[in-house]
Amino acid sequence: MTAFAVSAMSTAAVGVAHAQPNIALVKYWGKRDVRLNLPAAGSLSVTLKDLWTRTRVEFDAGFHHDALLLDGREDHPALRRVGACLDLLRAAAGTDCRARVETHNNFPTAAGLASSASGFAALVVATAAALDLDLEPAELSRLARQGSGSAARSIFGGFVEMHAGSRADGADAVAEPLASASDWPLEVVVAVTSRARKTTGSTDGMQHSADTSPFYPAWVASVDDDLAEARQAVARRDFEALADVSEASCLKMHAVMFSSRPALMYWSDRTLACIERVRQLRQRDGLGVFFTVDAGPQVKAVCQPADVATVAAALADLPGVERVLRTPLGEGARLVDAGSQETAGGGA
Ligand code: DP6
Repeated sequence: MTAFAVSAMSTAAVGVAHAQPNIALVKYWGKRDVRLNLPAAGSLSVTLKDLWTRTRVEFDAGFHHDALLLDGREDHPALRRVGACLDLLRAAAGTDCRARVETHNNFPTAAGLASSASGFAALVVATAAALDLDLEPAELSRLARQGSGSAARSIFGGFVEMHAGSRADGADAVAEPLASASDWPLEVVVAVTSRARKTTGSTDGMQHSADTSPFYPAWVASVDDDLAEARQAVARRDFEALADVSEASCLKMHAVMFSSRPALMYWSDRTLACIERVRQLRQRDGLGVFFTVDAGPQVKAVCQPADVATVAAALADLPGVERVLRTPLGEGARLVDAGSQETAGGGA
């Protein structure tokens, strides 16, 4: 892992950061502590490269309240969560100065493409810089987790494991890089089947599953074994083993969603068509590809580089697939200067 500390910005209380979403292969769905946003189990993800969030945070003694502009629009629904995350960093810096946050995604927001992961990772890195806080990556991950559990993983690049931790204060519920993007250069194809915002967000959805799905306890109890399998697959660069455990974890999580009452159904018929196509490509045609789906209708296909073009073309051909995005794995969240030049590299 590359050493990474957020460098101070001494002249202006401004920080700009860039972060990418990550896609969980071993999924996170459930919390052991809602207030501190502690996950009930660990998870394992890959950070993407070409989907990104860019966030600028400015503190000014003249601001009377926090403001959030998401893709150029004042975004009130997300402001409460953003403000709570800013409060954590304000407390660490000993200030109560208000902030203006401008953030932009180059991909659809809140449609199951992990915009909260890149969003909160970028927010924490930019805010720490603006407030002159020199924080270690694990501390940035801990802070990002309190914004959104999956954001803890986007602090790092490549293959990342999120630890559930056992401490009541959540100090050990942080992510850790396992291997870099260049260590195992897999690629991801995203089949976008809808750009609509999801109707039930992950936070509410996982609480609803914990409260109502009879499968929830078995799901949580099964994650440690999946993590061990996935960790070993990454260490051995064993694609088949990673494919098996990732598809199993995804389908188990969706079984918990389906079995919640009322049911959470993030899939559409288009989602299922993409899953079926990926299964054919892997099982019938022998391509290096597997699927995963999060809390939305998009399907992500993780591919061996040699097969990525065939997979992208096959998914793009399906009726109802609006667009196909293709990306290698990328780095963790990092600072950029005001002129958008990157100034610090993230972990792994
Ligand atoms: C299905 O990280 O969005 O994408 O911690 O409540 O913000 P909060 O949830 P969030 O949940 C992600 C759920 C998932 C699976 C995953 O990314 O592991």
